Amino acid sequence: MKGILICGGSGSRLKPLTDITNKSLLPVYNKPLILYPLQTLLDAGITDIAIVTGNEHMDQMAAFLGSGSRFGCTFHYCVQDKPKGIAQALGLTESFASGDSICAILGDNIFFDDLSSVIKSFKSGAHLFLKEVHDPERFGVATVKGNRVDSIEEKPVQPKTNLAVTGCYVYDNGCYAFIKNMKPSPRGELEITDVSRWYAEKGQAVGMMLKEEWIDAGTFESLFKAAEMVRKRLTK
Ligand code: G1P
Repeated sequence: MKGILICGGSGSRLKPLTDITNKSLLPVYNKPLILYPLQTLLDAGITDIAIVTGNEHMDQMAAFLGSGSRFGCTFHYCVQDKPKGIAQALGLTESFASGDSICAILGDNIFFDDLSSVIKSFKSGAHLFLKEVHDPERFGVATVKGNRVDSIEEKPVQPKTNLAVTGCYVYDNGCYAFIKNMKPSPRGELEITDVSRWYAEKGQAVGMMLKEEWIDAGTFESLFKAAEMVRKRLTK
């Protein structure tokens, strides 16, 4: 399995901080945000990792992460010229994946659960990670039947459940053929939710409920909360 860290987007909700650097390089208490999703991939034994990011801050990203040798992995860098969505960013990694299944994590997501056994035992279809939240309208929202994800809507005004689809997507290689034929959403992006929904509609999306805290640190409030969570865990 190949790993992908998706660090695209304009970071508009974190301006002016994201005028200086990529959202994933912002500090969360004692280290840059990207090191958390990177650790999730490393914990799952994934050592071949593509970093997808916009051209504005690619130099800083590569200067910080380097070849990967200090993390025991190999990084491949892919430029996403324009922020045209998470699925578009994922599509850029097709030749890197070279037929393998992939685990793509958003560069602003921090997981405190151990996802490694689920990632390591993945065979085909999709595996998603769900978390009960109080503000589901901020996220992709799932309905489930048993351990299957039944439907997903992106940022619904009236969410059917409080189950957020978190930013870790384990897909088989079939995702790339689907992405090639995708059409942009009304906001002009290729939505990752449409990829997951394609698997869900085929009955091939398994969902695991997270037990520990999870955070999408893409807003000032959630970035601040992420720092507090990390601090609490480090000092308890
Ligand atoms: C993205 C996805 C959304 C998902 C979220 C998780 O939203 O579009 O489905 O629930 O990441 O972090 P964004 O944070 O880019 O608005």
